[in-house]
Amino acid sequence: MSRVVLIGADTLLEHQARILLGDEVVTLAPASSDVLVTRLIWLDRRPELIVFGPMMPTQLSLTLARTLRDLADVLALVSDDPEIVPAASAAGITEYLGHDPELEHVDALFDAARERVARVRGVADSRRADQTRRTPGRIVVVASPKGGVGKTTVAVNLAVGLAEAEPSQVVIVDLDLQFGDVATLLGIPPRHSTVDALSKAAARDEFVLGTFLHEHADGFFVLPAPESPSAADRIDPKRVGHLLRQLAARFRHVIVDTSPGLGEVALAAIEQASALVTVVGPDATSVRGARKSLETLRELHLLPASSPVVMNNVEPRSGMSPVDAAAVIGVPVDVVVPRSRAVLRGGNLGIPVLLSTPRDAASRALREVGRRLDENLSRRESRDGGRAVPRRNAPTKEKVS
Ligand SMILES: Nc1ncnc2c1ncn2[C@@H]1O[C@H](COP(=O)(O)OP(=O)(O)OP(=O)(O)O)[C@@H](O)[C@H]1O
Ligand SMILES: [Mg+2]
Repeated sequence: MSRVVLIGADTLLEHQARILLGDEVVTLAPASSDVLVTRLIWLDRRPELIVFGPMMPTQLSLTLARTLRDLADVLALVSDDPEIVPAASAAGITEYLGHDPELEHVDALFDAARERVARVRGVADSRRADQTRRTPGRIVVVASPKGGVGKTTVAVNLAVGLAEAEPSQVVIVDLDLQFGDVATLLGIPPRHSTVDALSKAAARDEFVLGTFLHEHADGFFVLPAPESPSAADRIDPKRVGHLLRQLAARFRHVIVDTSPGLGEVALAAIEQASALVTVVGPDATSVRGARKSLETLRELHLLPASSPVVMNNVEPRSGMSPVDAAAVIGVPVDVVVPRSRAVLRGGNLGIPVLLSTPRDAASRALREVGRRLDENLSRRESRDGGRAVPRRNAPTKEKVS
């Protein structure tokens, strides 16, 4: 058992857990779910087991369990009341421990949790998860020279798709600081924003940064753009790189949405990127813009080795096919996303199409973007010894497909 979190433990439980697991035990005082989420997401490893201890009122434990269930593999409750089991199971609790347990009972709980982790994750996965915790995550920047081509749509659906495979390992950052739409397309209130996350306080302290992350119900975290466009004036673009590195130290996937063009903020993000997704529309202006943008990044030696092109909003007989677009851009189009009413409807309702209409042709294509990125980056990481490092001074582009 690599990491056990005790919430609201008494001295006896804490003492016994430490006898069995030493430093692998983290104790947290009872607190609001926001505070606990923040504490948990910045642990250096995902906990395998959370135990709601005897100092917690049972109903509060169940409420917290529902919020925290994606942040650990196994949840356990200290309780002697068998009648609580149906409600506790519904909240995601699978293991139980009586009050004032003997050491052997605590040991048996850890064993049961360990077995469950091995079953759920698979032993290989659990090793991989530990390994990936120690290596920086991937920073995937979504950009386009022209506006309105579908960057935010691609970015939010990427986050959804990746979080399905790796819950609580994905964060999406809206760096379109003036007019960003990530919160709109996800249907969430922009309580805190990327501007808060770029503050000095958050740069210095990850716990402060954690309080600015919005937890989405579908297993990922969000840093939305601020509500007022003028808030963007307050930020120092030099902090963008630091923020993305902070997030990559904690999350396996950092998805970055940008404003159109190659502004200072977008360039600062691209400089950190493991991959750059360029989105183009089915029109000559957008496609020519993409060629110029990729050429410029190549000249600046800022083009990541993984830099797929996604052609979005594609309709038959539009006069610009993916093959035509590839000829203009000078590299193949990796994924073609059809124009789809489901995408538009999903955007208007704040539900990404991957969630609202998973079988739509556009959903399949958007899922393919994540699949190809994952495949390509995994290949590169295993070649580079597990590091999803940004590639500086990499003048050539390697295709994703
Ligand atoms: N494949 C698609 N089919 C239908 N509608 C789409 C498709 N892709 C995006 N849209 C819709 O087009 C609009 C613009 O998309 P989006 O906001 O993702 O573009 P953007 O490039 O991020 O724009 P901006 O440059 O303003 O940030 C949204 O209403 C979105 O729902
Ligand atoms: Mg956008």
